[in-house]
Amino acid sequence: MHYRPLGQTGLQISVLGLGTGTRFGDPKNQSRTDATRLVRTALDLGVNYIDTAPMYLAAEEILGEALAGVPRERFLLATKFFPADEHGAPFTPAQLRASVVRSLQRLRLDTIDVLQLHGLRPHWVNPVMDALGGELEALQREGKYRFLGASETIVEDPRHAMLPLVAPSGRFSMGLVGYSPLSPWAELRALPACAKHGIGVVGMVAVPRALRDPARLQQLIHEARGRGEAGVNELPGENPLDWLIDEHTPTLAAAGYRFAVAHPAIASVLAGTLSREHLEANIAAVCAPPMPAVQLDRVRQIFLRTDPDKWRPYDL
Ligand SMILES: NC(=O)c1ccc[n+]([C@@H]2O[C@H](COP(=O)([O-])OP(=O)(O)OC[C@H]3O[C@@H](n4cnc5c(N)ncnc54)[C@H](OP(=O)(O)O)[C@@H]3O)[C@@H](O)[C@H]2O)c1
Repeated sequence: MHYRPLGQTGLQISVLGLGTGTRFGDPKNQSRTDATRLVRTALDLGVNYIDTAPMYLAAEEILGEALAGVPRERFLLATKFFPADEHGAPFTPAQLRASVVRSLQRLRLDTIDVLQLHGLRPHWVNPVMDALGGELEALQREGKYRFLGASETIVEDPRHAMLPLVAPSGRFSMGLVGYSPLSPWAELRALPACAKHGIGVVGMVAVPRALRDPARLQQLIHEARGRGEAGVNELPGENPLDWLIDEHTPTLAAAGYRFAVAHPAIASVLAGTLSREHLEANIAAVCAPPMPAVQLDRVRQIFLRTDPDKWRPYDL
């Protein structure tokens, strides 16, 4: 495993982080024994960064069980607080505190390493920080969490406007950013803003369904051609992304993870999986030599010219 610094936090995090989104948190998908085995395997393979959230069904509780007895220095735990209701009204400081305390209880931890504001929309930034900034500082002073982060929502913020907004404030130490070969737009503004202000970046959504399902990829490309989207028109008709496959990249899923960690601003990329085989393949992809410049350039030439409001390859 390789490790990189997470911005200016002083943390060294594994280039592959374990995502424990809703699929992981849904008890229908795996037994507690399987979940514990997967988490322990990830740790044994050198993964030290685990991302979760109260919204991921039972994920925090499952992790609490899986990590019980694991020496605390072996892992860094990042969880979240979703900061506003469906109308965009910020939750109260008491609701924030209660959520953090519940996360600590479920995770069976004394401190959270990274607390992220979950799915922070650009227009929520000011109201949320006005409402919760003081309590966030208090919780940090009390040691309930170490570093503050912000996770974006690629569906509602496809131009990645939130991180450039919060980066100069000095309040945030990390950002969780959607970044894949099919949606590389974060590198235009969000990643440079994070790098400039010393914010550590973790990547997510590196492998949307279209990189695992050739029919879905063909459908997206067909629709984009119908709209006359620049860039996508240059893709070959058959096996449109096979030029990303090489000796270190056996699949397009590997290409997604390998592309994400090729960006120098990205410390780690999250991969959620319920499969040991996929976990091992994903680690091999992020630890392979950097993706060649010719492939990176071609991805940029094609996909940076798509329109993020229309080309929306995010479904998982
Ligand atoms: N706004 C936010 O804060 C936000 C939003 C989205 C995600 N997240 C976080 O980011 C993490 C990563 O999310 P994600 O959106 O990137 O998706 P994901 O949850 O990592 O899902 C990845 C999908 O790819 C499959 N997969 C993984 N490795 C594979 C491989 N080598 N070959 C083929 N298929 C493979 C997985 O299925 P298998 O089980 O079959 O491997 C799964 O269906 C989440 O778990 C969550 O922690 C945060």
